[in-house]
Amino acid sequence: MKKSFHSFGLLWLAVITGFMVNIRIASAQGEKEQPYPIPDDINNIFKNSCMSCHGSEGGRFPKSRLNFSRWASYGKAKEAEKASAICSRVSKGTMPPKIARDSNPESIPTKEQIDLICKWAETIKPKKAEK
Ligand code: HEC
Repeated sequence: MKKSFHSFGLLWLAVITGFMVNIRIASAQGEKEQPYPIPDDINNIFKNSCMSCHGSEGGRFPKSRLNFSRWASYGKAKEAEKASAICSRVSKGTMPPKIARDSNPESIPTKEQIDLICKWAETIKPKKAEK
């Protein structure tokens, strides 16, 4: 009686351990697969102002620095880094570049849009503990 109870306990231990290992693997995969999404309102600004260069139709050079069509494959650390570069460039008014601002003034993000972008960038800053 006692012995069978003991092996029953071991069996449960094995099941629970296996279950926990599974959860850990699943969450590690989830971290890799799920990027920081770009919310629709922000994405619309990028579509209007940035993606002619930094989207699938953009040139080689701007895409090599930032490519929204590959955002999901960047991984969280790179996304956080790019998001803060985005906030910094739009705040300084160096993106879109002068040539695009001159030829296509309606692509210049408004002050409100810049605030939205930077608030979003702030939310995906990596937490210090995660570094
Ligand atoms: C006319 C084309 C063009 C448009 C439009 C444009 N960019 Fe760029 N962008 C470039 C080029 C070229 C570079 C690379 C040279 C440089 O770093 O200045 C660049 C670089 C960048 C970088 C630096 C990336 C890095 O990590 O090195 C960021 C961030 C950026 N752009 C954000 C934006 C955002 C946000 C917008 C829209 C608000 C935008 N750009 C619109 C051409 C463009």
